[in-house]
Amino acid sequence: MADPLQLLRTTLGEQLAGLRGVGVEELPPALLDVAVERFAVGGERAASRDVSLVLPRDWEQLRHEEGGAGRPIPYWARPWPSGLELAGALADDPTMVSAGARVLELGCGLGAPSVVAARAGAEVLATDGAPDAVAFAAHNLALNGVTAEVAHVDWAAHGEALVARGPFDVLLAADVLYLQANVEIALRLWPRLLKDDGVLLLADPRRAGTRDFLAAARGTFDLVSERRGDDVALHTLRPCRPPAR
Ligand SMILES: C[S@@+](CC[C@H](N)C(=O)[O-])C[C@H]1O[C@@H](n2cnc3c(N)ncnc32)[C@H](O)[C@@H]1O
Repeated sequence: MADPLQLLRTTLGEQLAGLRGVGVEELPPALLDVAVERFAVGGERAASRDVSLVLPRDWEQLRHEEGGAGRPIPYWARPWPSGLELAGALADDPTMVSAGARVLELGCGLGAPSVVAARAGAEVLATDGAPDAVAFAAHNLALNGVTAEVAHVDWAAHGEALVARGPFDVLLAADVLYLQANVEIALRLWPRLLKDDGVLLLADPRRAGTRDFLAAARGTFDLVSERRGDDVALHTLRPCRPPAR
């Protein structure tokens, strides 16, 4: 019988090489040295309490290989506490995302929140500015038996195209405001992606960028914040004034 991990490596390898415009043999070895891991999300009450993710087995090695080739740090390639906590919040409270809701995940990385939202019956678009992330997120949605769309979306380059796909009922974002440039783009772009009665769920490990974002967003959003786990805050933002579209 064919080794399922080997099959995964083959399809991922072809997609990643296509996205980079190189041969499979030119990909960094650590990118295709993948594992499938199960992550617990949500508490006792959660309807679905774990998510399986295919991911590069050794993130430090991948970071080293990408750095050596002059490529960006592959932040997308590990499940960060904020992403798992956001997935857990969605699993704990199914009213956050209703069946048929239009959900956009921004900077999805491996895509755990998108998996849980799609499980709830939402119409999900999982996006990331790193093309490699999008290939892994697509596999992760399939691995968990859910259907959703994925797209390569960098907010600076593809913001208007994303606005044309909206507006969305729910925006999901986990640990994406670690660069000041992202804070400024998010303040301009995100309100335009959201319906007037929509909700932005932002999970974050208390980064300075998020403090700046929340301070500036207070004029356009009502904000409720709660603690999730040891290090993550979940911010729920609802528009209190229509954005300039
Ligand atoms: C720290 S990782 C978090 C990944 C995932 N949300 C999680 O919590 O596990 C940040 C993610 O945001 C993406 N990202 C950063 N800046 C972006 C931008 N300007 N446009 C789109 N994605 C971006 C990165 O590629 C990366 O996947």
